[in-house]
Amino acid sequence: MVAINTGYLDLVPNYLFKDIADKVKALKAANPEAEVISLGIGDVTQPLPDACVKAMQKAAAEMGSAETMRGYGPDFGYAFLRQAIQKNDYADWGIDVAEDEIFVSDGSKCDISNIQEIFAADAKVGITNPVYPVYRDSNIMAGRKITFLPCREENGFIPEIPKEKLDIVYLCSPNNPTGTAFTKEELAKWVAYAKENQAVIIFDAAYKEYITDASLPKSIYEIAGAKEVAIESRSFSKTAGFTGLRCGYMVVPKELKGFTPAGEEISLNQLWGRRMATKFNGVSYVTQRAAEAIFSPEGKKEVAETIRYYMDNAKILKQALEDMGYKVFGGENAPYLWFKVKNGSSEEFFARLLNQAFLVCTPGNGFGSEGEGYIRFTAFGTRENTQKAIERLQKVVL
Ligand code: MLT
Repeated sequence: MVAINTGYLDLVPNYLFKDIADKVKALKAANPEAEVISLGIGDVTQPLPDACVKAMQKAAAEMGSAETMRGYGPDFGYAFLRQAIQKNDYADWGIDVAEDEIFVSDGSKCDISNIQEIFAADAKVGITNPVYPVYRDSNIMAGRKITFLPCREENGFIPEIPKEKLDIVYLCSPNNPTGTAFTKEELAKWVAYAKENQAVIIFDAAYKEYITDASLPKSIYEIAGAKEVAIESRSFSKTAGFTGLRCGYMVVPKELKGFTPAGEEISLNQLWGRRMATKFNGVSYVTQRAAEAIFSPEGKKEVAETIRYYMDNAKILKQALEDMGYKVFGGENAPYLWFKVKNGSSEEFFARLLNQAFLVCTPGNGFGSEGEGYIRFTAFGTRENTQKAIERLQKVVL
C-alpha cells in the first residue's frame, strides 16, 4: 500500500459528467427501448467541416508514404498551425500574439487543469461558483485552498472583484454553465485587479465563437495590458466539432512573469514550454492539418454555418422554456441555457426529466453550490432532437 495524494479525498466522488453518464446508463439498462435525448454534456452532433475531413485524408495519405510521413511533431505544435492561429485568431482581430506564445494542445480541459502545476502549491486560487468543474477539481487535487466567487442572478452571473488578494483567478466567457459573457468594461476591471495584485487570470475562451454581440470581447487580449496578466485557453472542440478529434491551444504571453522563492522574475511562457515538452505527446499531424483547415475560406464558411445551426437550437429552446414560464439566461452569446427550476432541487428536476421524458440535462448544483436550483441545457443537439425534447418537456410535470 502506498500513501495517496490526499487532495483526492476532498473531491466530490465522481466527475460531474461521468456521474450523469452513469445515471443515463442505468436508465437505459432498465428501459432498453427508451430513446434518450441529451441536453446534458456539451458534445457536438454536427459533422466536422468538409474542409477538415479533406485535410485529414490528405494528411493520412502523407503518413502512408516514406517520402512524406512524419514522426514526432514539434513540442508546441506544427508551425503551419501556430501561424494559422496567430493570423486568423489574433492578428486579423488586431491582437498582438506571437507564434511562440501559442501552444497547440489536445483541448482546453487538459490545458486548464494542467496549467496550475506551474504555480506555487500555496497560491490562492479564485474560482467562480457555479463553474466548469475542471478548474475547481484540478486545484483541489493539487491541495490548494479555493476562494469561491459567487455568480448570481443579481450580479448578472458576473463575479465581483474580490477585496482580498488572490494569485490565480479562473474566468470563462462566454460562460459555461451560465451562458453569460463579460463586457469589455467588466473584463477590464479584472485585468486591473490582476495587475494591482500581481495575479494571473486563466481565461477560458472555449466558446468564443458563439459570441454574436460584436461589442463583447472574444479574447482577453482585447483589453489593454492583459498580456501582462492573462493566459488564454481556446479549443476547436466547440468551434469546429473537434470533441472526438481533440485539438486546442493555449496562449502564454512572454510578458507574463512569475517569481522564484529568491524573488527573481521568471517567464511563465518558458515554464509552460518546459512542462509541455516534458509531459505532453503533442497532437497528431493529421489532427493538426484538420485544425489548420478550419481557417481556410471553405472551413470558415462551414464553421459559421454550424455555429448558426447550434445558435438556432439555442433560440428555439430558449423561446420554448420562456413560453413555459421559465426565466432563462444565456443562449444568446453562448451554446448554453441556464434557468431556474420552479419546484424542488436541481437533482430532483434532473431525475424527473430523465425518468418521465428520457431527457438528460445538467443539474446546476454539479457546477457548485450557487448552481443549486438551476438547470443547464445545451444547444449542441440535432434540430430534430431539440424539437423532440421541447415536445417532451411540454408534456412532463416539472
Ligand atoms: C460541458 O458540457 O461542460 C463540456 O462539454 C465539458 C467539456 O468540454 O469538457
